[in-house]
Amino acid sequence: MQEVPEEIEQVLFSSEEIQARLAVLAAEIDRDYHGRSALLVGVLKGAFILMADLARHLHGQVEFDFMAVSSYGSATQTSGVVRIMKDLDLDIAGRHVILVEDIVDSGLTLNYLLRNLRARGPASVEVMALLSKPDQIRVDLPIRYHGFTVPNVFVVGYGLDYDERYRNLPYVATLRGVDQSLDGRVIARPV
Ligand code: IMP
Repeated sequence: MQEVPEEIEQVLFSSEEIQARLAVLAAEIDRDYHGRSALLVGVLKGAFILMADLARHLHGQVEFDFMAVSSYGSATQTSGVVRIMKDLDLDIAGRHVILVEDIVDSGLTLNYLLRNLRARGPASVEVMALLSKPDQIRVDLPIRYHGFTVPNVFVVGYGLDYDERYRNLPYVATLRGVDQSLDGRVIARPV
């Protein structure tokens, strides 16, 4: 078992809990897309671990593609204006797309991506998000496959970073030394 770094305050979802939830969600996807080929679109960088694990839980016919986005705004809060750093390789016209996100905070990033993908003429678009912060969501989003709800705190691990660190942790956790008092925004560097 991996040692928990000193900066980690609390593990919210263990590796085992995440894998168990992914197995359930993958079974739902396999059932829902039976006889149809689904195209999973991961939003980089955060979703890279989620996509890899989800892929290994899926047994049906699936294909994978990725988009990389960066949002304008502060490091820890999105403005809803998203820049596409890497677009899809595949044409999604007529395809059944599942957009895979690590975490939905305000929902603005996902909202933008959904509108962008729908404009390309897919047969369907559904959303999978491992985590969401219901108190923070500012738009009405149809999250079809949902992992866990997190309180209004900044979390790291399982693909999620603070300043590009902690993505490799196999669990989702909060950081020590982070003042969470301002709507979950990080206002102090972790020790
Ligand atoms: P939204 O547009 O506000 O929903 O923000 C979504 C993006 O912000 C996610 O894809 C993450 O990259 C980032 N984000 C939001 N909350 C957290 C967090 O608690 N930890 C790490 N990244 C986060």
